[in-house]
Amino acid sequence: MSPDAPDANGRDRWDSRTAFIMAAIGSAVGLGNVWRFPYTAYQNGGGAFFIPYIVALVTTGIPLMILEYGVGQMFQGSAPTAMRRVNKTFEWVGWFALGTASMISFYYAIVMAWSWQFLLESFRYAFADAMPWAADAEAYFTQHVLQRADAGGETWHIVWPLVGGLAATWLIVFLIIHKGVRRVGRVVLITVPLPVLLLVVLAIRGLTLEGAVDGIEYYLYPDFAKLADPKVWLAAYGQIFFSLTLGFGVMIAYASYNTRGGDITNNAFITCLANCATSFLAGFVVFSVLGFLALKQGNVPVEDVVKGGPDLAFVTYPLAISKLGEYGRFWPPLVAILFFITLLSLGIDSLFSLVEAAVAGLHDRFSGLSRNTITAGMCVAGFLVGLLFATRGGLSWLACFDRWCNDYGLVFVGLMECLAVGYFFRTARLREYINSVSEIHLGGWWELCIRLVTPLALTALLGHQILTRELMGEAGDWRQATAKVFFFGLLVAAFVLGRRLWLIGIVASGVVAFFGFSVWLSTVAALTGALAVMILFGGLGMCIGIAARGKDVEHHEQTFGWPEDERRPHLPVHPADDDL
Ligand code: PFF
Repeated sequence: MSPDAPDANGRDRWDSRTAFIMAAIGSAVGLGNVWRFPYTAYQNGGGAFFIPYIVALVTTGIPLMILEYGVGQMFQGSAPTAMRRVNKTFEWVGWFALGTASMISFYYAIVMAWSWQFLLESFRYAFADAMPWAADAEAYFTQHVLQRADAGGETWHIVWPLVGGLAATWLIVFLIIHKGVRRVGRVVLITVPLPVLLLVVLAIRGLTLEGAVDGIEYYLYPDFAKLADPKVWLAAYGQIFFSLTLGFGVMIAYASYNTRGGDITNNAFITCLANCATSFLAGFVVFSVLGFLALKQGNVPVEDVVKGGPDLAFVTYPLAISKLGEYGRFWPPLVAILFFITLLSLGIDSLFSLVEAAVAGLHDRFSGLSRNTITAGMCVAGFLVGLLFATRGGLSWLACFDRWCNDYGLVFVGLMECLAVGYFFRTARLREYINSVSEIHLGGWWELCIRLVTPLALTALLGHQILTRELMGEAGDWRQATAKVFFFGLLVAAFVLGRRLWLIGIVASGVVAFFGFSVWLSTVAALTGALAVMILFGGLGMCIGIAARGKDVEHHEQTFGWPEDERRPHLPVHPADDDL
């Protein structure tokens, strides 16, 4: 058997437990750890933020990670297949997760393209007197790299250097995943330790700079008063959820490549803790350099230079790097090269995990198509859609899609997963299976989290995002409107692929009701009315449908028993019985 061949069950397998854990960590540890965590922590109480963060980790992050590993491994399928085996009605959740994951991968790749360009420029200027962005880092990023339309010019004009980076990124993704997860398992042995090592190097460099201590003080100084603000708690839940790559179907797909005897709980703890530890480390890298920059900008307060998101990675940090010349002329290019290699190696394994989740889902469903063909199709599609983000208006497109997929899509999927497993499946049975194979045994707390705590937290998060971001208030912006149509299109496609057409009926009635109500009512009142219509009339329609078909008994059995056409996992399985 060739080393890349699947096992006797026909399913691809990881080479070892380490390969699986590393791949999961690689997926979780991404750009967000560097540009999102430190900034979020600083904004939400500094050192005090660790309290809500750890609470969110224990009540949402770890339980959901265990859930995703559990269903993926128990049902041996990608998100749609696993969700169908949890309960047929929820297959669409898996498809929707994959749709959002694919969309995110399409714009994640453009961030990699920016990083490629910065990296090449850092090499090009290795022997120059100053880095090319030294004079004005902001203008360099927006006008030179992004060639933004508002700097003058045609919105649809393609920025060719970015297309090169995009093509390179998708080619690399294809080469890594087209052969299956064994190759992924080998690649992550490099792409996971490398950025962590580089972060350690960058932290040491950062901490030995003048002013670094002031920066770290800002990062870690606890402001306990902030803990009374519910927004801080929501920020912690949002950060944990985003950071662990939950709600994409990635962890379900990765766990499905374990044999049924593989450990679940301990692997989930290791993944979550490694991810959060990396975020914590990244805070030192970022804030030490921000302290130095604040000093060099004329001893301004650190809060004047703090940034999050792409601005941090592509404007503020490079600006600080360009000021390292006083320590020796080789420092700016050296640190720039290390930093952009860190970004690329952080991003690549998150990116290919998102693509792998989609490939796994499509391969499970359309088994007539080879994995190669599906992967090539995904990569070409990713490249073509990515061209939209490589135009001069690309950054605005990115912001619109990011809001829909991240603020609403992921949290919604996480919530649905909890409801499906918590209420439409025997949660105790999943726990029993998990305990039968795991090194750390789950107590009742896990079920309590899945059924109550996590759904409540996610509902609060979703409600908060919807109300504060004025979900419907931005219809005037045509990019927002396109992203919105695309998002709902994904939902409908998920219902179709999940073979749940009645759900389309319910959602369509909600949309019609919403537009009807909004003729006279405010957005929030119309939304509430539409929700009521969906629940009351949709529920009524469903019950009448069930009664008309006289299928209530079979339906009950389908929901709570093992569906006839599904393979039933043999329970319990002892690790020793298995070949992992
Ligand atoms: N968890 C990774 C990160 O924090 O960067 C990967 C990721 C999460 C990518 C969520 C994209 C995303 F929307």
